[in-house]
This record gives sequence, C-alpha cells and structure tokens, in this order.
Amino acid sequence: MEHELAGGIAVLDFGGQYAHLICRRIRALGVYSALVPHDTPLAQLERMKVAGVVLSGGPASVYSERAPAADPELFEGELPMLGICYGYQLMVRAHGGEVARADRREYGRASVKVMEGGGLFDGLGAEKIVCWMSHSDSPVRIPSTMQVLAASESSPYAAVKLSGSPQFGVQFHPEVSHTEKGQAVLSNFIFGICRAEKKWSMEEFMRTSVESLSKLEGRVLCAVSGGVDSSVTAALLHRAVRNRLRSVFIDTGLLREGEAERVRRFLGQELGVNVAVVDASERFLTGLEGVRDPEQKRKIVGKTFADVFEEFARDEGPFAYLAQGTLYPDVIESGRSTGPASVIKTHHNVGGLPSDISMKVVEPLRELYKDEVRELGSLMGLPKGVVDRHPFPGPGLAVRVIGEVTREKLRICRESSRIVEKVLEEEGLYGRVWQAFAYVGDDEVTGVLGDERKLGRQVTVKVVESVDAMTADWSRLDPRVLERISSAITNEVSGVVAVAYSISSKPPATIEPQ
Ligand code: XMP
Repeated sequence: MEHELAGGIAVLDFGGQYAHLICRRIRALGVYSALVPHDTPLAQLERMKVAGVVLSGGPASVYSERAPAADPELFEGELPMLGICYGYQLMVRAHGGEVARADRREYGRASVKVMEGGGLFDGLGAEKIVCWMSHSDSPVRIPSTMQVLAASESSPYAAVKLSGSPQFGVQFHPEVSHTEKGQAVLSNFIFGICRAEKKWSMEEFMRTSVESLSKLEGRVLCAVSGGVDSSVTAALLHRAVRNRLRSVFIDTGLLREGEAERVRRFLGQELGVNVAVVDASERFLTGLEGVRDPEQKRKIVGKTFADVFEEFARDEGPFAYLAQGTLYPDVIESGRSTGPASVIKTHHNVGGLPSDISMKVVEPLRELYKDEVRELGSLMGLPKGVVDRHPFPGPGLAVRVIGEVTREKLRICRESSRIVEKVLEEEGLYGRVWQAFAYVGDDEVTGVLGDERKLGRQVTVKVVESVDAMTADWSRLDPRVLERISSAITNEVSGVVAVAYSISSKPPATIEPQ
C-alpha cells in the first residue's frame, strides 16, 4: 500500500537532521515527498517518475573518506534538483568546484542578499531574506558553469544555479522555519522548476486508504491506547472493514487519569468502533512489585502487555491482520532506514507485541508524519482532545515513577499530571508544548502543615517543547503559570509538599525521566 512517488519529490537522504522536515514542508505544499537512499540511481528515479529531487543536508564532510555520495549520473541528467547544504556541496564538487572547511562553523540566522530574482527566488518581494545556516564546510570556488543567485557575508555562494540545467543549490536551509520565505523558495522549486502538481492531501489519502484497506479479507485486530496514532488507525479501519475490526484497549494501570473511559466514549460511543476494554492493571502492578531498575520495568510492562494481548487475540480470534499505528519516522528510525543517519533508538510502539504472532501486520499510517495524522484524525471526526493529545510512552507511568512502582506514587503522578495539563489548557498553552507531566520518586522533603513539620513527597513538573522528540527544550513558562501549577499540586494532591520544575533539555536529558 506504498504511496507512489510518481509526480512527487524524492529527497535523497544524506542523514541531515532536517531531512524529514524537507519532506514535511513539501507535503504541506500539496506534493508527496519521501526519503530515498542517498545513492538511489538516476535510472531508478526516472523509473519512479519523480518530478524532481532534493539532496538533503548531512553531517559528513564531502571530503571525508566515507562521505555518502549520490549517483554521479544524477548531476549529468536533466532531472530538476535542489541541493541543500551538504547536498549542494556535492553538486559543486561534481561540477568541478571546490568546497573547504570554514574557519568557524556558521550556525544561526544570516542575512542573504538575492542577486537574481526569478526561478528559485521568484516573487519573494524582498531583496534580502533572513536564512538559517548550519554548516562548517562551504563552497569556496564554483565552476564557471554555475551562476550565483544569492550571497551572505560569510557565504559568497549562498545560492547557485547550473547554467542550462534545472539544478540549484543553496547553502542555507529553506525547510527550517527560521528561514524567511523558505516555504516560498521550496514552492518555486517544486511548482516553478519541477512542474509538480498538487495531488497530496489528507482527503485524498483517506479516500485511497479506505479503498485499499477495504480489500483486506478476514478480521482485523487493533490495539488502541487512547493516543492519536492508534485512534486514527482504528477509525480508518473501522471505515474500511466495519464490523470485521476488533479493537482492544488494555488498561495497564499505568495510564493517564480517566483513559479507559475516554476511549470507550470517543471510539466506542462516538465513532461506533467495536472496542473491548481489558482491565489488566492488577497483573501489571503485581509484576512490577519490588522492581526498581528502569530497563527491567520496561521489560516487564512490555512482556505483560504482549501476554495479555496474545490471550485476547487467542480468545477472540482468529484474526488475519494486526493493525498498528506506526508512523513514517518510526519506519525510518527502526532500521528500515534510507539514509546514513545511525539508528537512534529501537522503535517503541512495536516493542510490546509478540513477534511470533501469526497475523499479517498492516500499518495504514506508515507514510505519514504526526501532523498529517492529526489532520487526518480531524477529518475523520475524532474529537480535538484526541487529535491534539500529547504523546504518552508505551510503558506509561512506569517510566514516570522513579524507583518501585507503587499505587501511592502512581496516584501522585496521575493527579499531579492532570493538574499540569489542566492549567496549561486553561492558559491556552497545552497545544503549544510537546509534552507536559509530573513525575515522582521516593525522596521525601520536609513540609510545614499548620504548625507541624511533616515529611512529604516532592514531584517534578516537566514541560518540553519539541518538533519530533529527537531533541527537546524545556519550556520557559511564565513564573505565574508555574506558581499556579505548584500551588494546585500542593493543595490538591495529598502527600505532596513540594514541586520542582525540570530545566533540562534533551540532550543531555531525555524527555521521560526513565
Ligand atoms: P525520550 O524519553 O527518549 O522520549 O526522550 C522521546 C519520546 O518517546 C516517548 N517514549 C516512549 N514511547 N515507548 C513509547 O511508546 C517507550 O518506551 C518510550 N520512551 C519514551 C516519550 O514520551 C517522548 O515523546
């Protein structure tokens, strides 16, 4: 059920941190785009009938021994091409120019003067644009066949064009939102130069997905968690195969407050999805008794989940298919990778399911990014509260309770997190941050209750901003909002006497405390 790249834009993946972002930006313009391996031959791209290629940035230096390369024929061909940063430097070298390491890395905003309007810079309405730069190497000599289109103080060849050929290169990153008019530059390339047509939309994706999923024969099983990905997967399959879909929600006892109820209401009652709720919380909590090691806790949750799920599948089966809400970045990250970027972490979502299950896996969202899934969810009528919900880790509160998972700590974690979410919602901030929650450990601190000194718990509140969870920055919340959160927690959550706010970013910390 792979979406065809015909008429779309292939992004050659040189491992740059913004490679995914390039695809997302192009898709937002209404043209399908996907990552392909950096050495995909020109002949193959032509067979795929792509409208054009973008060469992504990458961490390597074009001179390093293991520098990832593109098919040399690509530079000789007529396929429209936009090289970005590393991709641009490869172009310059392929055409006989020279790239060198600058004295210092250029990182951040730079003012770029456009010398040649039209083409890539058509209709920008400004002579100077602020662009995002992130590079150590840069072209120091361009071949005579290349024409300079734009320059900045540190990059005399900030943008170039190859004469008589639809090949362009930019040293800056048009895909990054800090680049003013970056979307217009991409749009000029895609529509003006590649002549691509707008054919990619979530309406179209929904129509074709439902059509192709409706051809599945037999019954389909889908585990739902209350999160947006599994909810959209279930909703899509429900449309396609109606009552041949069976959804199961496993209550691990490690979930956010009221989660089982929410799932029953929005999936079961509102969308009419056939969803069973299995309360296995006792089993999970018993399995976790006395366990303090985070990895061990993850393993226990994963294994228990797999066991409960397998029992359900056996009791209610047979099922021909197992539906999962895997997203495009998960597909890439889990090693089915296109580029030289190293595998950052093993894919979380599939970790907990048994590997020897005799169902075929169907992943209807495997080509989508999170923001596209949210758009699809809205289109399908999922409530805003589901579509905009923050991500939640598979092992649940087991990774937000430090040390042994006890009912008391789970209660504190759950109630405090609900307060964090509620305050952010009331302040209009919930949708602006990536994740927001509270976590708790075993430490006790001294508090004062009336005249009495009393030991109590300290919870840590964590609110982070992120684009894709690979990196995250702590949110600079207004002290007034922090104060609201802190007093609500100490007033309303019994046993808590102090609140801390985490000011660590990722890296070096991770988003989840464990
Ligand atoms: P970290 O903690 O690695 O988290 O910075 C990155 C993102 O992944 C989520 N996360 C998980 N999701 N199973 C999941 O399904 C897991 O084991 C897991 N660990 C972390 C985390 O909430 C964040 O969005």
